[in-house]
Amino acid sequence: MHFREKVIWVTGASSGIGAELAVQLAKQGGYVILTGRNEQALNEVHQACSKYNEFCKIVVADLSTEAGCLQACNQAMELFQHIDIVFLNAGVTQRSLAIDTDIAVYRSLMDINFYAPLIITKQLLPYFKQRNNGQIVAISSVAGLMGFPLRSGYAAAKHAMKGFFETLQTENTIEGLSITLVSPGRINTPISVNALTKDGTPHLKHDEGQLNGISVKVCATKILKAVAQKKQHIIIARGESLLLKIKWYLPSLYYKIAHNKGLKSL
Ligand SMILES: NC(=O)c1ccc[n+]([C@@H]2O[C@H](COP(=O)([O-])OP(=O)(O)OC[C@H]3O[C@@H](n4cnc5c(N)ncnc54)[C@H](OP(=O)(O)O)[C@@H]3O)[C@@H](O)[C@H]2O)c1
Repeated sequence: MHFREKVIWVTGASSGIGAELAVQLAKQGGYVILTGRNEQALNEVHQACSKYNEFCKIVVADLSTEAGCLQACNQAMELFQHIDIVFLNAGVTQRSLAIDTDIAVYRSLMDINFYAPLIITKQLLPYFKQRNNGQIVAISSVAGLMGFPLRSGYAAAKHAMKGFFETLQTENTIEGLSITLVSPGRINTPISVNALTKDGTPHLKHDEGQLNGISVKVCATKILKAVAQKKQHIIIARGESLLLKIKWYLPSLYYKIAHNKGLKSL
């Protein structure tokens, strides 16, 4: 019911969690705007959405630059002259040791995982304030709650993302605005295939942890339930939830486990 006839912009809708969110949202009556770079993949997701809802649209965009984010924002807004909810989901992970990783790779990871959600949010906030309404869903990661091997830039960007949105939640300057921060653990998507390695080339491997992760269906269903309930933060994880508790109560053990488990996909 919550998403019915709402205009909902999903970034990173061409694959994985975003694609599943888009289809479930269309099924629940949302008018979904799908964004990503891969037009063919977006068309396939659009087709799946159109089975449930004829009002879904596509905005092809590269969100790795400020200009790309602003242009995508304007195009998304023009489609219905309105946006109710934005899912800031587009993201890229990493598979390389900090000692080996080029600075340019850190910048790329910050651009897509931190600056893109920040720029889009900054662009939409005045509109949400004008209406005293709006919802932002920030898809972070458990890597935004703890460090993990081979993900120094990704974890840094997701920590920054969490810091930004959590602060926005505490400032609470827009009465009707709700923000849901989502911290998934491993979800079964192609994210590790597209992960950046030390020189920025893609990892091109489905990591075992990823393949054994929570299904996108389960993940998207949990996200949508939390968004409908306007939850402030949810963690969708299995073993990572335990590791977070260990980090809190037995930090020295967390460092050992993370080291041993995390270096496997090197
Ligand atoms: N899978 C997991 O285990 C996991 C765990 C924690 C958090 N997350 C987070 O969940 C989100 C979705 O990840 P996923 O697992 O669904 O990964 P995915 O299947 O690789 O999807 C990533 C999406 O981001 C889009 N994207 C990447 N770079 C982009 C760019 N420069 N401009 C526009 N769109 C871009 C991709 O679209 P194009 O390629 O078409 O541009 C794709 O639609 C990410 O923020 C990720 O960090 C995932």
